[in-house]
Amino acid sequence: MAACPVLKLPVLKIFHHISSLLNWRDSVDDLSRTIGFIPTMGALHAGHVSLIQKAKEECDYVVCCIFVNPSQFNQSSDLVKYPRMPESDSDLLRNCGCDYLFMPEVKEIYPNEVAKPILDFGTLNTVLEGSFRPGHFEGVVQIVDILFSLVKPHKAYFGEKDFQQLAIVQAFSSEKYPEIEIVPCPIIRSEEGLALSSRNALLTEAQKKEALIISRVLTSLGELSEKMSPQEVKSWVYTHFQNESSLVLEYFELVHANNFEELQSWDDDGVALIAAYCGTVRLIDNHRLAPLYKFNTDTGRLQDQIG
Ligand code: PAJ
Repeated sequence: MAACPVLKLPVLKIFHHISSLLNWRDSVDDLSRTIGFIPTMGALHAGHVSLIQKAKEECDYVVCCIFVNPSQFNQSSDLVKYPRMPESDSDLLRNCGCDYLFMPEVKEIYPNEVAKPILDFGTLNTVLEGSFRPGHFEGVVQIVDILFSLVKPHKAYFGEKDFQQLAIVQAFSSEKYPEIEIVPCPIIRSEEGLALSSRNALLTEAQKKEALIISRVLTSLGELSEKMSPQEVKSWVYTHFQNESSLVLEYFELVHANNFEELQSWDDDGVALIAAYCGTVRLIDNHRLAPLYKFNTDTGRLQDQIG
């Protein structure tokens, strides 16, 4: 009888305590070795996996963190119902070749009550998520700061799914951790177009179908922009949600991708951002608008992209 091949399972080292994480980090003394870091709140899906895969391609060690950070939830009911599945998450990380997982308890990270930082990134942290979820970005920056100081990665991977979060992390990190490269990663969607999110686990199959209106509206923006101004598109989207959908639109905004000021013209480098409630589940999504005209550095002129 032929011998059964021995399957070698990848090793995933799990740290529950800061002390063991720090012991490992101190032992990485070969300065040529790079560490890629992916902070998450768990309930992992293909969006998270895409970040891990990118880190694996670019770094020697890949460290993931799973921590449902209470300080970034502005509603306690949202924190309570946030999906938690540490067993299947660890299996998934093992299978996709992640090397280290930091999975601390809340009291390990916040042994005492600590005041959240005060953010001052101009419009970036005051509009959209900043205004609808007061204290949210302060909590995100608080935990990213703690984790960066412990893991000391060379590169950290963040999804464009949370476009405003990415912009704030970039702004914060360039001030406090200029040595860490923030790597933006594209949005991963279901085949139908729904942006993957841990919160999708809270939707019924029927709700997942209803939620497709979000990505449909975002992908129709190119066409709409040919016949309407940004202001007209905004009111069209609000009316469309009201008339055609069971989802409750919290905001739809067209802003400059770099400073989140309101977009006045399609020629600018814009991004469309949406937050909507599907039942009690809050979903966010966004779409980067390719400017109709691009500045051509060779000719010194604006060049029609289509032509
Ligand atoms: P979480 O929602 O778990 O997301 C972790 C990372 O995965 C974030 O950078 C997020 O943008 C990215 N991500 C989520 N869904 C994605 C998708 N469909 N495609 C691509 N990337 C996706 O974001 C957080 O956790 C937290 O705020 C955190 C940064 C960990 C701080 O607590």
